[in-house]
Amino acid sequence: MPLSSSCTNRVCKAVGRGHVKRVLIWKLRFEPAWVQSPLRYYLAKMASFAIGIESVSPTAPSFTTTSASEPELTTANSLSASTTALPTPSYRLPGDLHPEHYTLEIKTFLDGENSRFEGRVLIRVKCEKDTSRVVLHSTDLILNTDQVRVGDQEITDHEFDTKNEFYIIKLKEALKSGSKYLIEIPFEGNLTTSLKGYYRTSYEDKATGGKKWVAITQFEAIHARRAFPCFDEPAMKAVFQVNMIRRKGFTSISNMPLAKSVQLEDDWFRDEYVESVRMSTYLVAFVVSDFAHLQSSPDNTTFRVWARQDAIEQARYSLEIGPKVLDFFEEYFNVPYPLPKMDMIAVPDFSSGAMENWGLVTCRETAMLNEEGVSDTNAKEWVTSVVAHELAHQWFGNLVTMKWWDDLWLNEGFATYVEGLGTDHVQPSIDYPDSKAVRSLLNIFSKDSLKSSHPVSNNIQHPSEILQLFDDISYSKGYLVLRMLNYVLGEETFRQGVSRYLKTHQYGNAVENDLWASFEEQSRDDSARDSSRTETPREATVKEIMDSWTLQTGYPVIHVKRNYGEGSAELCQNRFVTDSLGRSSEDRESLWWVPISYTDPSNALLDMSTKPRFWMNTSTATLTGLPKKDQWLLLNVNATALYRINYDSENWDLLSTALRTEKNHGGIPTLNRVQIIDDAFNLAKAGLLEYNLALNLLRYLRHEREYLPWQTAFSNLVFFSRMTNRGGGYGQFRKFVRALLTPVYNALDEPFKLSVAGETIPQIKHRAQVLDWSCSMGVSDCEEKAVALFKTWQQQTEDPDVVNPIPVELRSVVYCKAVESGGEPAWDFLWKRFLGSNVAAEKSKLLSALGCAREMWLLHRYLDMSLNETSGIRKQDIAIVFNSVVSSSSGFYIAREFLFSRIKDIHSYVSPDFFKIGFFVKGVSHLMSTKNDFEQIKQFVELNSEYLKDAKYAVKEALETVELNVQWHSRYYSTVVEWLSSHANEEFSA
Ligand code: BES
Ligand code: ZN
Repeated sequence: MPLSSSCTNRVCKAVGRGHVKRVLIWKLRFEPAWVQSPLRYYLAKMASFAIGIESVSPTAPSFTTTSASEPELTTANSLSASTTALPTPSYRLPGDLHPEHYTLEIKTFLDGENSRFEGRVLIRVKCEKDTSRVVLHSTDLILNTDQVRVGDQEITDHEFDTKNEFYIIKLKEALKSGSKYLIEIPFEGNLTTSLKGYYRTSYEDKATGGKKWVAITQFEAIHARRAFPCFDEPAMKAVFQVNMIRRKGFTSISNMPLAKSVQLEDDWFRDEYVESVRMSTYLVAFVVSDFAHLQSSPDNTTFRVWARQDAIEQARYSLEIGPKVLDFFEEYFNVPYPLPKMDMIAVPDFSSGAMENWGLVTCRETAMLNEEGVSDTNAKEWVTSVVAHELAHQWFGNLVTMKWWDDLWLNEGFATYVEGLGTDHVQPSIDYPDSKAVRSLLNIFSKDSLKSSHPVSNNIQHPSEILQLFDDISYSKGYLVLRMLNYVLGEETFRQGVSRYLKTHQYGNAVENDLWASFEEQSRDDSARDSSRTETPREATVKEIMDSWTLQTGYPVIHVKRNYGEGSAELCQNRFVTDSLGRSSEDRESLWWVPISYTDPSNALLDMSTKPRFWMNTSTATLTGLPKKDQWLLLNVNATALYRINYDSENWDLLSTALRTEKNHGGIPTLNRVQIIDDAFNLAKAGLLEYNLALNLLRYLRHEREYLPWQTAFSNLVFFSRMTNRGGGYGQFRKFVRALLTPVYNALDEPFKLSVAGETIPQIKHRAQVLDWSCSMGVSDCEEKAVALFKTWQQQTEDPDVVNPIPVELRSVVYCKAVESGGEPAWDFLWKRFLGSNVAAEKSKLLSALGCAREMWLLHRYLDMSLNETSGIRKQDIAIVFNSVVSSSSGFYIAREFLFSRIKDIHSYVSPDFFKIGFFVKGVSHLMSTKNDFEQIKQFVELNSEYLKDAKYAVKEALETVELNVQWHSRYYSTVVEWLSSHANEEFSA
């Protein structure tokens, strides 16, 4: 197989001396061809900046906010003849009215299946442009139109545009620009179980066995309109004064503190809340429940945590860390938290993990509750990071909000970045920043190498696409580009830049360019103070650099060809795509501003600086002053920037030898070992490196004892496992992994013991991952030991719901192995534990394990149960069940059949969160690798387009994944299996 280890035909031709030549991006801007290309969006956004206009694209009608106060936006496309001003897309509010203040009153009837609510909203609006139509959002609400008022205007008609979710009031005379009006709308609705809008959920009271009901909101992104008529767009900020009417015996909570509570007739109370600060509709929240709470009042913010009475003690941990995280962010952002209180509530059934409503964070129980001795390290880490993430949003998202959903990453990428700082502050022993970075790098290196990926800052065509943007690109790539910028600017400039941005735009909205402008200003100020500061290249602004990362799809691979005689190296960059043989011209032409840091053995111990030694934004460049023969060269110190590196084969060999040095792996830092493993595997997968070389590199793992490099190896071995699992090569694969793992398993020393004194959190996680793989691959006595442990639990005389002898950290592995080999009795035993458990983290663990069964009928029944709310499996957990079945040793065929034959049921069950179907489609795609598989999934997609239309991104990703798997199979399957079998018996030696 010829290797195309180059930047196409310009094979690392030397240019200059590592100096930047800005060529391609600017040249391309004026080539007519790009008007039709996917690059068009990227370039148009760049072009729009050049003429001083915010975010506008010829293909992005959603950018053309048509508020009368921003008329200049409509001229944005004058750069190109083909791009004339676009009308407001029909799904956007016209912008002629701006809400200033809402008075909202909601009466909640929690009556089981008949639960419903009644309400009245008073909205004070300011008219920005004369109009005789009031257009606002309302979905699935019954409006009492007879009682609707718009000031004292005469109403001529009411119209419901269900497609765009608008309620339109037509007036005899136009409202006048500059005037204010009061709109009054009475409404009612049902509390459904859809997990969206204002919905109901139930739980069992352990003492009485009775069913209790809770009413709660989930509005992001576009569901406030399901609870009350409103101007439901993020830039339509207003002040909210909420009043909740509830029955005696229930408590209500909302964003703001309670002002007063008055008793009405019978058993009804009216809770009146303090007026909010100026905020977006998607952040409004209210809950009616009989939950218990715990409280602490450090400084001047009252912090409360809420949960079912039976679980309230599990909320202590969140109460302990929450206030500390809040204080930390106040200091980090240098902006005070503006509300007098913060509530966090753990809800039994919740669509996402958690939601950052201002002053009232709502969470799944797994995201907020922790039970020492039952929740494991990962579960506790999850709670810590969710608390940090949602509290980070109080600034990033709540105080300053993206203008439109295109820039969702400003919310989610940023919260994901600072969640790491908050988590590290309260739990430094987790080693969270590095483990977060590795998880995200592995994920983005993989996802963003697909052609179906999309830019971080994305173009939204339709509201149904908004939810699809809550994906790894917005979260993880958003976070990684900010992490990279932090290393470039330096912590202090970065932090001050963030603070500047928040202060400038507080209580308002912003676009990506506003963030770059704040960093730019801060960087300039800091450089003026300290002239030795040269973090960014002189010839580029923060915006120019960051645009190359957020407006283009993908990330670069830097090819390095060393000249060992001269001590130099030629570098070239292009987009890394897994299907490198089928790469398109855009992939070849993409260029990034890449911060290049590097080191070598002579520097390694002294100079691990992550500061870029030079910036590369040309396709080729030369590095000089490098070591000569026999010494490795390593780029991207500590993997701070988002690029892969493909060295020449001699340098790969040098690195490989260094890694095998027992002491310290030759000084190569942990995160670089991670990068080397992942790069080698994936460059080989893309045809840019010989598989032999990549696989040989693995030999070093025999000496590796750290969690993160092993996690990386496993995440890549999963691919081989999937590719060989449904073919004859699986036996060879298992044998090979056994050879690789045995020394590591043996080094664990009593792998199943309860706990090891002095074991750090990464070591605990490492033990669990090694055991998981060892048991699955048949290493030594791993499986027998796991099953024996399970039996002691099953056969003990004590109540198994109270006493569990299995070490907490090993339960996932033990449960799964036991169900795999124990058939129906083991399944039934664990199902009983699932029903009886009061700890959400344990329940999730049990759900995952139940999918490990080998019996087809058990798996079938299990999947059917996941679509039935009365089975005991909550709607929120349907994906856990599906994933566990699809990834189990024999579940793939059953999961695929379930998806293909029950797509309609799944569709109606997840309604209106249709984008969730994408998880299922992606889930099966990873295991499909034959031509027949591809035809099948293609046909499935074609026949079911009506059910898949809100999961377009995921479907595209799934199809490409299968296509690549098929390609891989025909290109590399036999090479790899051959290599595995010839090395499976080999004692791995250094
Ligand atoms: N804002 C999101 C919640 C959300 C997600 C709303 C998707 C609408 C659609 C929240 O801040 C969030 O990101 N939650 C994460 C957990 C977080 C710790 C990464 C989630 O729900 O998975
Ligand atoms: Zn978030």
